[in-house]
Amino acid sequence: MKKLVVLISGNGSNLQSILDACADGRINGSVAAVFSNKATAFGLTRARAAGVPAHALAASDFPDRDAFDRQLMQEIDAFAPDLVVLAGYMRILSSAFVAHYQDRLLNIHPSLLPKYPGLHTHRQALANGDDEHGTSVHFVTDELDGGPVVLQAKVPVFADDSEEAITARVQHQEHAIYPLVINWFVEGRLAMREGKAWLDNQPLPPQGYAHD
Ligand code: GAR
Repeated sequence: MKKLVVLISGNGSNLQSILDACADGRINGSVAAVFSNKATAFGLTRARAAGVPAHALAASDFPDRDAFDRQLMQEIDAFAPDLVVLAGYMRILSSAFVAHYQDRLLNIHPSLLPKYPGLHTHRQALANGDDEHGTSVHFVTDELDGGPVVLQAKVPVFADDSEEAITARVQHQEHAIYPLVINWFVEGRLAMREGKAWLDNQPLPPQGYAHD
């Protein structure tokens, strides 16, 4: 069975959807460990409740990003994961980290990439009067939120929407698509090659698998 390591920083609702999908067989794999850069992240509690080892590393204990990431890599590698999953991990990764997990590092980002890389995506979609918004699962490369997209899910934006309402709508979709994509990877259907995402030996277009 394939092993996942999941990185979080907060609530961990995506982690929960992954743990649930492993438990009920929608992901043909298991979460070997969870790491957070925040000791107070509720996702650590979710991991422990599922019987998964969960550890926090504090940035203040390290002289710089490279040193933090070196320690994190060492701790991750002790679990020999097939795939490293970023699920609301809000810390910028060093190039060494990205290179080390090249082709087996996935992220979920709450926008229809390439729109709105970075922070406050829901706020930007509202401020710009967008009528649709969404979320993207992508392979991670050195470019922030810039790696090849595997799958996106779209949600409508309504005239009287609040940031909270749109966040909840997006996260509802995230909890469906992230486990699906992770399972494609663990079943060997999804890979990153030549800087592109491939599903069933077909290169995916820039917006990922066309599901609509
Ligand atoms: C998710 O919505 C995820 O897309 C976002 O953080 C949230 C974490 O929620 N990730 C990013 O913004 C990464 N740039 P969760 O902790 O409840 O899974």
